[in-house]
Amino acid sequence: MSAPSATNNARITINSARRLRGEITVPGDKALSHRAVIFNSIGEGTARITNFLPGEDCLSSIACMRQLGVQIEFDEVTRTVVVHGKGLRGLEEAGDTLNAGNSGTTMRFLAGLLSGFPFQSVITGDGSLRSRPMKRVLEPLALMGANLSGRKNNTLAPLVIRGGNLKGFNYALPVASAQLKTCLLLAALYAEGDTTLSGLIESRDHTERFLTAMGAPLEKTADGLVMHGPATSLKALDVEVPGDISSAAFWLVAASVHPDADLTLRKVGVNETRTGIIDALLEMGADITYSNETMVGGEPVADLRVKSARLRAGQIGGSIIPRLVDEIPALAVAALMAHGTSEVRDASELRVKETDRIAAIASEFGRLGISVATRPDGLAITGPVANLKGNLVKSYGDHRLAMALAVAGLLLPAGQSLEIEDYHCADVSYPGFWDDLGRIVER
Ligand code: S3P
Repeated sequence: MSAPSATNNARITINSARRLRGEITVPGDKALSHRAVIFNSIGEGTARITNFLPGEDCLSSIACMRQLGVQIEFDEVTRTVVVHGKGLRGLEEAGDTLNAGNSGTTMRFLAGLLSGFPFQSVITGDGSLRSRPMKRVLEPLALMGANLSGRKNNTLAPLVIRGGNLKGFNYALPVASAQLKTCLLLAALYAEGDTTLSGLIESRDHTERFLTAMGAPLEKTADGLVMHGPATSLKALDVEVPGDISSAAFWLVAASVHPDADLTLRKVGVNETRTGIIDALLEMGADITYSNETMVGGEPVADLRVKSARLRAGQIGGSIIPRLVDEIPALAVAALMAHGTSEVRDASELRVKETDRIAAIASEFGRLGISVATRPDGLAITGPVANLKGNLVKSYGDHRLAMALAVAGLLLPAGQSLEIEDYHCADVSYPGFWDDLGRIVER
């Protein structure tokens, strides 16, 4: 999202909390909701998706797939989506530009998928998305034989794609990005011959699980991920979407750092490529326990109970980063109350998320009286911070920053409050966040 404008500068006030108590069922996982809609659009048959996340990003995916000729029904009340798959080759040229809104996932997935089709597609997004790096997807897709271009010398959206006639290739991923991995796997479904992805392929593995369950010719070998293209058909897959651990992360942190907290989070997805936040908090001394572990939609799910704890500083870097990349704004709040200097390293990807999250955390935490040391690939915060002060803070239109700031607000000294500008952006991934916050806070 672009800088707050006259229409998106609504503010919410967050007061300090005396106690945090209760149960929360966080909404469906964003990453899985996108995949369920986009992948089932090229499936054979009809798929029913329950507990779909009705966040703005996922609604962008629905809108784009509809423009490509897919019939999709969405019941907002039951959070159920029905996708009438068009089969692998049934998408139609859209009559207009596709708009991915704020969603990097929608844009990068569609860039790969539409590279498989011999018609022209134009994909744009909001101000934030139009400034996020697209060369990482355009370059390898061009190597596969697609015709693509983008603004600023093929680095930025809007993107123009004319696909078809793809050839499989060997490619070492230069960034640990599940969006890039998925983009290339989708293109590989349409490519003649094997596509082998190596390099930084260790990131969330929802795509591998989902496409395999649909019957895609995908395997993991010693060389990496291999798609034996072209695929002949994928079967539509009904799926119940687990709760989003990236949304649960705000409550995991809130309860860990608040002195009087006991929260239970129901049916949270605990795929181990996503549970870096739990591992990091446990390493810092958090009190988090799992129960009712089961499988939902091909993914492990559990109830999580989290209670107040005395945290020590965390050293977050290396291979855990892709497992918690979206949770770093929340972790930065945990660092405020942890004893010692917590450091995040190897996370330069934060510079190119919905906003530059390193710069945004430093500037907005600064307004609360917290000093954040920044580096090109991370940050350092020394805690526990004794005297947080209430102030007006900005979300920069970044959903995860808005929610992290809200959690920081709960830790203010009694009687103090903070105001968050452009708080509605939380709807991108967590519609209902502010209501859930109101329900667990006791004053
Ligand atoms: C996502 C992958 C991650 C994550 C994003 C969702 C996905 O992005 O930050 O919120 O659904 O695959 P990158 O692939 O850019 O790391």
